[in-house]
Amino acid sequence: MTTSDMPPAAKQVIVVGSGLAGLTASYSALRLGVPVHMLERSPKPGGNSIKASSGINGAGTRFQAQAASANPQAGHDSRDLFYTDTLRSAGKRLSQAHGREHEARERLIGVLVDQSVKAIELLSDELGVDLSVVTRLGGHSAARTHRGGGKMPPGAAIVTTLLAKLKENENFTLSTSTTVTALTTTSSPDGFVTVKGVEFTRSGSGSETLLGPVVFATGGFAGDAHGLLAKYRSDLAGLPSTNDARPGAHDILTAAGAELVDMDSVQIHPTGFIDPANPTAMVKFLAAEMLRGEGGILLHKGERFVDELQTREVVSGTIMEGMEPEEKDGLRQWDVQLLLDPGATKAAGNHVGFYLFKGLMAKKKVKDLDETTRKTVEEYAKVVRGESEDKLGRTSFGHWDLGLDGKIDPDSEVVIGSVTPITHFTMGGALINEKGQVLASKPGEPSVKKPIEGLWAAGEITGGIHGDNRLGGSSLLECVVFGQIIGEEAAKAAREN
Ligand SMILES: Cc1cc2nc3c(=O)[nH]c(=O)nc-3n(C[C@H](O)[C@H](O)[C@H](O)COP(=O)(O)OP(=O)(O)OC[C@H]3O[C@@H](n4cnc5c(N)ncnc54)[C@H](O)[C@@H]3O)c2cc1C
Ligand SMILES: *[C@@H]1O[C@H](CO)[C@@H](O)[C@H](O)[C@H]1NC(C)=O
Repeated sequence: MTTSDMPPAAKQVIVVGSGLAGLTASYSALRLGVPVHMLERSPKPGGNSIKASSGINGAGTRFQAQAASANPQAGHDSRDLFYTDTLRSAGKRLSQAHGREHEARERLIGVLVDQSVKAIELLSDELGVDLSVVTRLGGHSAARTHRGGGKMPPGAAIVTTLLAKLKENENFTLSTSTTVTALTTTSSPDGFVTVKGVEFTRSGSGSETLLGPVVFATGGFAGDAHGLLAKYRSDLAGLPSTNDARPGAHDILTAAGAELVDMDSVQIHPTGFIDPANPTAMVKFLAAEMLRGEGGILLHKGERFVDELQTREVVSGTIMEGMEPEEKDGLRQWDVQLLLDPGATKAAGNHVGFYLFKGLMAKKKVKDLDETTRKTVEEYAKVVRGESEDKLGRTSFGHWDLGLDGKIDPDSEVVIGSVTPITHFTMGGALINEKGQVLASKPGEPSVKKPIEGLWAAGEITGGIHGDNRLGGSSLLECVVFGQIIGEEAAKAAREN
């Protein structure tokens, strides 16, 4: 469609994607009195956000202060400590960036940490989500990841609350089973484009157009195993994921000139459960890291192969580089078992109960293990007893207590499940500035960058904040912080229209 035959732009904000970034952007646009039309390709809203299980980061919140007064070991947190932790986690992507690029990355991290308290307060005080429990995750110098005290995981609690709030507003329209296929643009003489709206299809219908400022919140591409993931990380093609299986929408942005950064930085988790009832499922449950921390060991054909407490990168790399994958219909996974002795099982408590209930792990008596595995367990018990050194270098054994008294009761029960490396989060995505505007490079002059008029993005679709590695709890945070910013910016643009 050319611009001349277009109807005048509607005074509404178009939000693409109904995860936490899109929901927050909608909320802040509606708060300014501007109508919102949200388009979501899936039949159900919530994206990967609804699955988030650990929580959302905030540094300097009253919940942290309460936790610290109850437990002095929670550690004192501050904006600066969170900032430093995030810089460290961003690694080489940040430290090896120079000049303007380095400053731009630091500014994005600055916005994320500066507005974390405001983000937590929006969810808890304004929307009433319980975020009173604070825990310390790996890579963090203090307890700062917030979730509720009840049974509902934080992602589901936040998403359902926000969605209910939006649906109360007469100015909110949600179209599910509606896929955005392109941005509607006009081009200017300087080679950059202006975004006027989106083109979309509903199930069974042809292409339609909707006009207005566009907020793009379509999430990451870890679930796009044969598309963007294969394109940017051919070594990860066909890997299962914790993410919903769906195509990345990044090409829609690049078609308008958007620049993508850090696309090859992908978070891999070494242990996703292979469900015996559905072994070739592309979407898998995570086997929590703490299972190994509490004493679990990893086996391949009955033998240990790595210090299980090494970093995620090392454990995943040892599996993927050292073993032949099993390939079927384009899916690639590896044959690894996670084994917990009675001590580790007890320490991991509820988690193991849930995995047993789901059929992802099973109990087995030591006498029913195959001979190699039994030998491995006996040798490992010697290491835990301090009689021999671990050849793989493990020095901390969690709550493993099988065979500590010198012999192993053949009737003792271990818990075993099959696991494989899975993709979990994509750090890369569209380059944005502090206002969440999507940046484009001038054709032929890559160092000249300019915001694309009429287009904003937030959440996992964006890149440049996390660098090498995202800290746990920081993606929900980026959705709220940048979602709020771009909802307001797009609403202002809609009003001025
Ligand atoms: C199992 C799991 C646990 C996690 N736990 C945590 C945690 O505890 N803390 C944390 O901070 N992070 C966690 N994460 C990461 C975090 O949940 C995500 O990074 C974040 O929710 C992404 O939000 P988003 O709004 O950017 O995208 P999403 O929530 O993925 O939403 C994007 C939406 O856009 C839609 N969409 C895509 N393309 C189109 C299109 N062309 N047209 C229309 N709609 C489209 C999708 O269908 C989807 O609904 C977890 C992730 C997973 C998978
Ligand atoms: C709905 O939008 C209109 C502008 O189109 C605005 O005047 C009105 O105040 C909005 N209503 C609410 C509840 O925000």
